[in-house]
Formats: sequence, C-alpha cells, structure tokens
Amino acid sequence: MHLVHLTISDFRNLTRVELEPASGVNLFWGANAQGKTNLLEAIYYLITGRSFRTRQDREVLPWDCPSETVSIIRGSVQRPESLYQIVVAISKNQKNVTCNGKTLASLGLLWGKMNAVLFTPQDLDIVQGPPGVRRRFLDMEGCQMEHNYLYHLQRYAQILRQRNALLKSSMEDSELAESLEVWDVEIASPAAEIFCFRREFLKKLSYASANIYNGIADSSEVLTLEYDNFLGRSNTTLNKEVAETLCKDIMRRSRAEDIYRGTTTCGPHRDDFRILIGCQDARAFASQGQQRSAIIALRLAEIDLMKQYTGLSPILLLDDIVSELDEKRRRHFLRLLDPALQTFITGTDSDTLQGALPVEKSFQIEGGRIL
Ligand SMILES: Nc1ncnc2c1ncn2[C@@H]1O[C@H](COP(=O)(O)OP(=O)(O)OP(=O)(O)O)[C@@H](O)[C@H]1O
Ligand SMILES: [Mg+2]
Repeated sequence: MHLVHLTISDFRNLTRVELEPASGVNLFWGANAQGKTNLLEAIYYLITGRSFRTRQDREVLPWDCPSETVSIIRGSVQRPESLYQIVVAISKNQKNVTCNGKTLASLGLLWGKMNAVLFTPQDLDIVQGPPGVRRRFLDMEGCQMEHNYLYHLQRYAQILRQRNALLKSSMEDSELAESLEVWDVEIASPAAEIFCFRREFLKKLSYASANIYNGIADSSEVLTLEYDNFLGRSNTTLNKEVAETLCKDIMRRSRAEDIYRGTTTCGPHRDDFRILIGCQDARAFASQGQQRSAIIALRLAEIDLMKQYTGLSPILLLDDIVSELDEKRRRHFLRLLDPALQTFITGTDSDTLQGALPVEKSFQIEGGRIL
C-alpha cells in the first residue's frame, strides 16, 4: 500500500504542493520553519482525518486567509485491490472527507484505507507525559489495527457520557441506583472489549519492542510494557465474559464514590501503561537517551504489529527523528528501517540522510513550496 499522488492547497504555509512520491524512501529537507512538518501533518490527515499536532482543525487554515478559504489535501492511494482517491477538506467550521467521491459519514470509515506509523520528537511525551497521552497512543494505534476497537471505544464513550450525566442529575437515590444499574450492565460489554484488546496489544508490543530496544540502546536491560488497567489485573488470561462480570462488579462497588464525585471514577477511560526498563519505571528513572530508545523501539515494533493485524505494510512518517538521536543510535535505527516501506522522512541536513538511507526521491522545501 502506498501513496502515489499528493496535492495540498492552502494548508498552513503550504499554498500549493503537488508531488508523486516514490514507493520507497522520500526525503523532505530544508531549513527550519519551511513547511516540512506541515507536509507530514497533511499526509497524516489523509490517513486518520486528524492532525497529530492539534485537536482544532481550523488551526491548519493559513493565517490571514479570507474566511471562505478551504484547506484541501488530496491523495491517491494504491492498495492491492484498487486505487482510492481520498480528499480531506477543512474550512473554518467543518471538515469533509471523501473516498472515491463519496462523503464519509464518520472518520471511522476512513481508518484502515491506509495505515501509518508516525515518529515525531513529541513521542517522548508517551514516556514522560500524563496517562491521557498513553491512552491516546493506544487508541490511535488500536483503531488503525482493529476496526472493531474503534466501534467499542465510541460505544463506551457514549454510555460513559450518559452515565456521567446521570451522576450529575438530582434524582432520588433509589431511582438513581435503578438507572445506574441499567448503564452499568450496558457499559460492561465495550469496557471488557477495550480491556481485552489493550491487554493483547500491549503484550504483543512489549514482546516485539524488547529485542529492538536492546539493539538501539546497546544494553541488555529488558524493556517491558505493563498494562495498568481498571480491573487491576494485567498478566491474566481472563476472557471477555469474566472481564465483563468483573467490570459490572467494579461499577457497582464504585457507585457511592461516583455519586459523591459526580463522575465515573473507574473504567478504561482511566487506564494507563507503564514502560519499564530493567524493572524500573522509565518515566521516573530512565535517562533521556534511554527514553528515546524506548520510544523508537515501540514505534518500530508497531510496524510489525501493523503488518500482523492488517496484513499490509504501513507507510512511515518520520519527522525530524534522526536529529534527535546520537550517531550510534541513529545508525542502528536507520539500519532497522525497511527501505521497501514507503517512507516520508524530514530533516535539515540532506547529505547526512542521503548517506544513511536509500533515498529514492528528495524534495527541498522552502517557504512552503517544493523547489
Ligand atoms: N496556520 C498557519 N498558517 C500559516 N503558516 C503557518 C500556520 N501554522 C504554522 N505555520 C508556519 O509554517 C512554517 C513551517 O512550519 P513547519 O513546522 O512545517 O516547519 P519545519 O520545516 O518542520 O521546521 P523545523 O525544521 O523547525 O521542524 C512555520 O513558520 C510556521 O510558523
Ligand atoms: Mg518540523
């Protein structure tokens, strides 16, 4: 699967870009603040319908543009069975995504047409940031790998909103308990599905990233991922039915607390995972270099998992990642990249990257234009 044609208009500082990427490694190089990350962000929109930098779509509209301006990203994607035309159009008040000319009713319908693994310097937040960053990581990856996961997340979020609204209402105690019972039975099913997916995914990711970590970090310490979940059980083999029963019990038990706080205090929306290096929590104890190596190992492992789950190779988006690594780690990292995967890599120094990677096409970016 790869992107064969791309046009971008009025997207941040990219006024008009048109290119035919190579099916292997594509390099975008240029000085700082010329539009390299903007270009990767536009490609990411074609894959997920979202930005990796902001939740506010309208931020991508060029500054000082007339209010009726529409940012448009068009991509032709070659998949084994056919060619897809995907168009993402963002205006001040709405976003419209089409596939082969048909508007997609939800972003969920876009997911899976094309998959990507993204490396950015902000990935360090996955180690250092609050639990929400790690949940977002799990969910962004999970949705690309398993279509049903998105469905369960949406269903869970919808029931959670209703349960929380109920907890804030001023119902009589007995009536409230009765209504909560209904939602607790409803919420247990998607909660158990989310639990089972995350547990399996983290187990596979942990296994796949451990080997890679030793090579990059040049150490024998073991990298492991541990799922901190609302059921309080990480290394179990409990099946969906048991997880569902446990979930109902937990919801019932935390009812008094939930009523007191006016919100649901327990559930997958509070899950987290820990990254351990040699049994120590990397967030508190690892050096910056170790943290970077851990993140790169996770991302590289993700490529393998993506192939396992979807049967297709993802495209790789590597934003400025190489400059973040020291010489030794960089060489090791670049050696692990499969040049057969379609790759979009950015950097300021063309020579270093050209020397280290089999670059098929190289594009220089200046002032939002490809020279
Ligand atoms: N909505 C917008 N409208 C116009 N310009 C924008 C908008 N958002 C960001 N920019 C500008 O786009 C320029 C390029 O940003 P980008 O992040 O792509 O740079 P870059 O080439 O990746 O630089 P670096 O090498 O420093 O990472 C910046 O000068 C930024 O201020
Ligand atoms: Mg950049």
